Amino acid sequence: MNDDALVIAIDGPSSSGKSSVAKGVARSLGLQYLDTGALYRAMTWLVLRAGLEIADEVEIGKLARNSKIAISTNPDQTWISADGIDITNTIRSAEVTDAVSQVSAVPLVREILVELQRKYAKLATEQVGGIVVEGRDIATVVLPKADIKVFLTASPVARATRRGLELDVDIAEVSKALEQRDLLDSTRAISPLRQDPDSTLIDTTNLDLRQSVDAVLSLLDELTVDIQADADIDSEWGDFLDIPVDLVSKPVVAILGRPNVGKSTLVNRILGHRSAVVEDQPGVTRDRVSYQAEWNGLDFTILDTGGWEQDAKGMYQQVAQQAEIAIKEADLGVLVVDSTIGATEDDQRIVQMLRAAKVPILLVANKVDTQVFESDAASLWSLGAGEPHLVSALHGRGAGDLLDVIVKSIPKELRTKPGLLGTRAVALLGRPNVGKSSLLNRLVGSNRAVVNEKAGTTVDPIDESVELDGSSWLFIDTAGIRKKFRQDSGHEYYAILRTKSAIERSEVVVVLIDVTEPLSDQDRRVINLAEETGRALILCFNKWDILDEDRRFDLEREIDKDLQQQRWIPRLNISATTGRGVEKIPSSLRKVLANWDRRIATSELNRFITDFVQANPHPLRGGRQAKILFATQVSSQPPTFALFVSRVLDEAYLRFLERRLRETFEFEGTPIRFRQKIKKRESTLK
Ligand code: DC
Repeated sequence: MNDDALVIAIDGPSSSGKSSVAKGVARSLGLQYLDTGALYRAMTWLVLRAGLEIADEVEIGKLARNSKIAISTNPDQTWISADGIDITNTIRSAEVTDAVSQVSAVPLVREILVELQRKYAKLATEQVGGIVVEGRDIATVVLPKADIKVFLTASPVARATRRGLELDVDIAEVSKALEQRDLLDSTRAISPLRQDPDSTLIDTTNLDLRQSVDAVLSLLDELTVDIQADADIDSEWGDFLDIPVDLVSKPVVAILGRPNVGKSTLVNRILGHRSAVVEDQPGVTRDRVSYQAEWNGLDFTILDTGGWEQDAKGMYQQVAQQAEIAIKEADLGVLVVDSTIGATEDDQRIVQMLRAAKVPILLVANKVDTQVFESDAASLWSLGAGEPHLVSALHGRGAGDLLDVIVKSIPKELRTKPGLLGTRAVALLGRPNVGKSSLLNRLVGSNRAVVNEKAGTTVDPIDESVELDGSSWLFIDTAGIRKKFRQDSGHEYYAILRTKSAIERSEVVVVLIDVTEPLSDQDRRVINLAEETGRALILCFNKWDILDEDRRFDLEREIDKDLQQQRWIPRLNISATTGRGVEKIPSSLRKVLANWDRRIATSELNRFITDFVQANPHPLRGGRQAKILFATQVSSQPPTFALFVSRVLDEAYLRFLERRLRETFEFEGTPIRFRQKIKKRESTLK
């Protein structure tokens, strides 16, 4: 157990702001984050998938016992899977939301999930600084000994409005649904929602997110932690620097190969069940499907790089695309070859591309259904990808051995995945009709590289690699740009999911804004989401050519005001139709990405901090002073700084520090993160 570890329990009704506040607190303090509602939603998803009656508690209990749910506790990268299937987005559907209160009232479900929650909390306190857990019964039942207990509330109207904005639906309807859920959650027989007597009540009705986070952080004031009097700074820091940034960061194994070599059967063998392609969210990428797998105690992610078509013309590009996905995301590429056919040119190309990018390869000869083929398989040595491992996916032959080999072949040090062969990933976002596809065409001109002609499929090419200014870029989810993707079905919800997924897959986000209209809530939401997700950002103001001088001047001022907290985002004034200013985009992208990648040496950083603290002491609180003792950059993309402090710093002070940091070092266009680490006895670290 790490003595410094901190456990924070946050309870409250739906839409009281629990998850944003809990995430914000976790980020500020460098802690893990657990959304327990997501676990109940996952269980509900399993129940619905199995087609069980909601009232059938016995069967539901059985299902709960036999299912495997895994959740990320990294506040910057949340996902959840059930039985190996990524259901991060699916659990937010109306179907799950409608059934979750009933499923979460089943005693056995609660018993199992509470145990799981305690396990995650324990892991976080042992391995990192601690955890923020949010739900309905965290302070009362799950973690009654939490260091800090908070009960968040907000007026029903505020809650319904927040939820409504998130989903863009009718507020009155949302309000009714919320009431219904609150009623069920607070009247159920087993651990109903109620405020723990030791909890601090925080009403967020009139607070914005920063203020709510601050309110929780202020509770830490009286709760600082001891350090050994004689600890020398180096070993203190050594410990801290070793903290894994992501507790659940898992190796990624990409399964590659031509069509019909048995990739999916193999994936199913590995996962130990037969469900085929399971990602069932409309509008979400289909060029890869990921599954969570486990073998011999090692958790890893399997990436099935599907998306092949039988069209011979497009094959070449598809090989390249598959290899690119693997190069960008995988720690190990498993190349599946049909041993009855032998190695083909396509296989050869995949091997070459992966080797050039130094991604380790494991060669698998599938369909080795009889001894006879074993000799054929031997010819696969010629691929130059090492020993062919013989399996028959169909009969399960060799699957266990193969898993042993896969697990052994995963490199100990996982790669950082900067983007494929120097290519950087860009998400181009903005409201419908703002001119995204004109801009894309203008940018790409005749240089469009990979555009698959899709014959007879319903799937669009979602990413496009293009050359701009002599370097290559991957534009994410261009299908969503070229077609007004499924907006017609009235499901704004899926548009949001799609935007989220594009941001998550990108390194830099370009938000295109129409200057002939005021900055919309949706624009702001995309900007905030990109910032929260920690991506580099550029704003392009389109249709600039239509404005006259006066209006331009006024508009600049309006935007300044609107984006006060986000002055660090560069703004380009462009016209996608005339091409004005568009040429500045590539160099701007390069600049913000360089800043996003930037690392500041610890010595240089601490010179800056010492000067800063001297010139700007933290305001006194209760006669005591918070102070930054030492700082170090723990990661880049985005730049993240750990601050060792005597007491928790105010949000305002942090923002001021951020501004100075930006003035001193070059950080235009990148979010900056701070993680505070509290140390009690200042004197020992001084
Ligand atoms: O926070 P949320 O809306 O994702 O939670 C979904 C449901 O899960 C909620 O209606 C009640 C249930 N839940 C629970 O019973 N206990 C928790 N600790 C968290 C959620």
